Amino acid sequence: MKVTVVGAGAVGASCAEYIAIKDFASEVVLLDIKEGFAEGKAMDLMQTASLNGFDTKITGVTSDYSKTAGSDICVITSGIPRKPGMTREELIGINAGIVKEVSSNLVKHSPDTIIIVVSNPMDSMAYLVHKTSGLPKNRIIGMGGALDSARFKYRLAEALGAPISDVDGMVIGGHSDTGMVPLTRLATRNSVPVSKFISEERLNQVKEDTKVGGATLTKLLGTSAWYAPGAAVSALVQAIACDQKKMFPCSVMLDGQYGLKDICIGAPVILGRNGVEEIVEIELNDAEKAHIQESAAGVRKTNDLLEF
Ligand SMILES: NC(=O)c1ccc[n+]([C@@H]2O[C@H](COP(=O)([O-])OP(=O)(O)OC[C@H]3O[C@@H](n4cnc5c(N)ncnc54)[C@H](O)[C@@H]3O)[C@@H](O)[C@H]2O)c1
Repeated sequence: MKVTVVGAGAVGASCAEYIAIKDFASEVVLLDIKEGFAEGKAMDLMQTASLNGFDTKITGVTSDYSKTAGSDICVITSGIPRKPGMTREELIGINAGIVKEVSSNLVKHSPDTIIIVVSNPMDSMAYLVHKTSGLPKNRIIGMGGALDSARFKYRLAEALGAPISDVDGMVIGGHSDTGMVPLTRLATRNSVPVSKFISEERLNQVKEDTKVGGATLTKLLGTSAWYAPGAAVSALVQAIACDQKKMFPCSVMLDGQYGLKDICIGAPVILGRNGVEEIVEIELNDAEKAHIQESAAGVRKTNDLLEF
């Protein structure tokens, strides 16, 4: 199992670290455009191997795609992150060119790969890869919902005063401050709806805190977060690499599901060795349906800025 991670910055390196620590991949190649940067990160991470007990071999390369050849899974984290006060959508001007070029180079050397898109604005970047890479749609996955759901569970546990392992919940829709649809109605504490434990007002606060989860961290850190994004990507990579058939909300190309077509947006999917093995359609109420449609309108507006 060979995994390439493009972009050895905060998210890329964190993702490589989590993949290595979980010890399911034989090789992780980190690639960056900045001379020597990926090599340095890879060497630093390899020096944790004896301490953290993994055998995954991590190598770093500067823009040499020949070293990524034969990758089973490629993760794209290259591009600029947002600064405090910025929206993810504002990154499109720079990141679209980077993502298009990177995905084309990856496919050239690994035509059978599965691509996980992380760079923002992620739903539009995933859409761009669909339109330009020539890969089948089950092999292009945008990571956003797995992270947003982890943040949702964190906020739910906080509100409930419960351990995170007690709560379950999912965020679908666009990966943006306004587009996220945290499914509070379906969130549970050990199968019991969370509304049994907290007021509607508190639950609404959880929803709002979840939606600005990334912006809150960007304000605190001065740049966007990396631990939870890296962990979320590594969970998707592991589900595919180990054929786990796990369900995550991911940004995938919809073809009529949720009343949407020709758009990448967060929906629950089953991930396994073939990438997206199934898109799961859950029954939404009218408010949730309206929110998804609104969210999709926002994603389409950003997609309109893309040039193929
Ligand atoms: N989808 C999500 O849930 C999610 C979460 C967090 C961050 N992000 C996004 O991930 C991206 C990376 O964030 P970060 O914090 O790691 O940024 P970062 O600046 O720390 O790292 C980005 C890296 O990409 C490299 N890079 C730039 N152009 C490249 C190219 N053409 N080829 C190879 N490498 C190139 C840079 O040299 C840099 O090392 C941002 O767009 C950010 O918004 C997405």
